[in-house]
Parts: sequence; structure tokens; C-alpha cells
Amino acid sequence: MKKAIVIGATSGIGRGVAKLLATNDYRVGITGRREQLLLELKAENPDAFVVQVFDLKNVNDIPQHLDALTQKLGGLDLLLINSGTGHRNPTLDFSIEEPAILTNVHGFTAAADWGFNYFEKQGKGHLAVVSSIAGIRGNRYAPAYGASKAYQMSYMASLRHKADNLKLDIALTDIRPGFVDTAMAQGDGIFWVAPVEKAAGQIVSALQKRRKIVYITKRWRIIAFLMPLIPGWIYKRI
Ligand SMILES: NC(=O)c1ccc[n+]([C@@H]2O[C@H](COP(=O)([O-])OP(=O)(O)OC[C@H]3O[C@@H](n4cnc5c(N)ncnc54)[C@H](OP(=O)(O)O)[C@@H]3O)[C@@H](O)[C@H]2O)c1
Repeated sequence: MKKAIVIGATSGIGRGVAKLLATNDYRVGITGRREQLLLELKAENPDAFVVQVFDLKNVNDIPQHLDALTQKLGGLDLLLINSGTGHRNPTLDFSIEEPAILTNVHGFTAAADWGFNYFEKQGKGHLAVVSSIAGIRGNRYAPAYGASKAYQMSYMASLRHKADNLKLDIALTDIRPGFVDTAMAQGDGIFWVAPVEKAAGQIVSALQKRRKIVYITKRWRIIAFLMPLIPGWIYKRI
């Protein structure tokens, strides 16, 4: 049986992926801050899930939590960093930007570094992140969120460069959703909103194929291609 950790499995995409991995012969370590939601997921399939409660903003604690969870699982093949946060911030209030930076940049980096080093020592493994289409081009709605997702994309590219250069057998997958029907996808102007089950299915399929970059759902690849090409005089009106 393979072993996976899904960081941020309490709700939404992470919960959907964790459930699907469990039905695909994985033992899954599930994390997040809302312990009750993790315990409810575990109750659905007690043998499949192992719970570890932690806040990704507490970066110094992340290695010990991931060490402990990996020990409880009995090894690790796949680490998926799904946790993320971000809100619209029309007044550029730093108290809104800060949690996105601490979670999506600091916490992500601490977890990704732990995972890469673990897999390097082990000689193989698979590290994946749920970034976002929002990382492709800065936008006025949620500046820190978009910037933090661009950071994750670039960081994954850097880790791929490192793994290739050192000829390491570490798969790296950057998962870039458009809109998925979760608590995070709110507000006017959202479209092509995918159900969580559909998004989770495409994510697990991409992970099984060890894909490098994947758009969720698949048609968001079109938006990803077009977004950088939109001239500034049009983009400023969006
Ligand atoms: N939904 C979309 O349309 C969409 C589009 C593009 C990208 N994404 C990305 O998809 C990922 C999952 O989001 P979602 O849409 O499924 O929303 P969600 O239901 O709100 O899930 C967010 C997850 O992140 C965890 N999380 C947030 N802050 C955390 C922290 N400080 N420490 C530990 N875990 C934390 C949450 O767990 P706790 O609150 O229990 O800690 C939860 O499990 C995010 O990275 C998001 O940026 C979503």
C-alpha cells in the first residue's frame, strides 16, 4: 500500500483528493487546523486515514509534524501541499494579505523543502502543490493571493531544475485549478466552476501519470494560454 500526505484535507479540494486516494489503495495522512473535520473524515474510513493537526503558518513546527505523520503512516510516497488561503482586498489591508503570504509562501516553502529533502534521502518520491491559475498574471482583486501562487509555481520549477540537475527520481507536479466549487471560490464573475469530485478525479489522474503541470479542469489550459497575451489596455478593464 502506498502512503500519501495531503496538507489541507479538512475541506474542499484536499478533502476530495484525500478520499479518492484512499479508494486507490493509499494510506493517507490528513492535516489541517480544524481537527473535528479531520476526525469526521477519518471516521468514514478509519484504516485509510491518519490525522495530524497543525497550522502551516507555524513554520518552525512543520518538520516535526511531517516527521511524526510519516512515521505513523510507515513511510511516504506522495506529499501534496494543498493548503492555501487568500481573499479579495480592494483596500490593500495588510491584515488580509498577511495570512496568504504566511500560508502560501512561508508554510508552503517549509513543507516543500521538507518533502524534497525527505524524497532525496529516500531516493524517490512525488511532491505536488495545488497552486492556481491566479498565479499566471497579477490581478487587482487579491494581490497577495495571486503573487503567492506565482511564487509556488516558480518554486516548483526551481525544485524541478534541481531534481533534473541532480538526476533525482523525484516527480514534481504543479496543479493549477481555475474555479472549483469550494469555500474559496466566491464572488461575482466566476465561471467554469468545477464540482470538487470532478476536480479531485482529474488531480488524482494527473498525479498517477506524474504530470509536471496540470490545469483543473482541463479547459482552463485555454485561459492559461490566453491570459498573458491579453493587451494591457483590455486587461485593465477586467
Ligand atoms: N476553489 C478554487 O476555485 C481554487 C482555485 C484555484 C486554486 N485553489 C487552491 O486550492 C487549494 C484548496 O482550496 P479549496 O478551494 O479547497 O478551499 P478550502 O475548502 O477553503 O480549503 C483550504 C484548505 O487549506 C487549509 N488551510 C488554510 N489555511 C491553513 C493553515 N494556515 N494551515 C493549515 N492548513 C490551512 C484548510 O484547512 P484548515 O482551515 O482546517 O486549516 C483547508 O483544508 C488552495 O491552495 C487554493 O488556493 C482553489
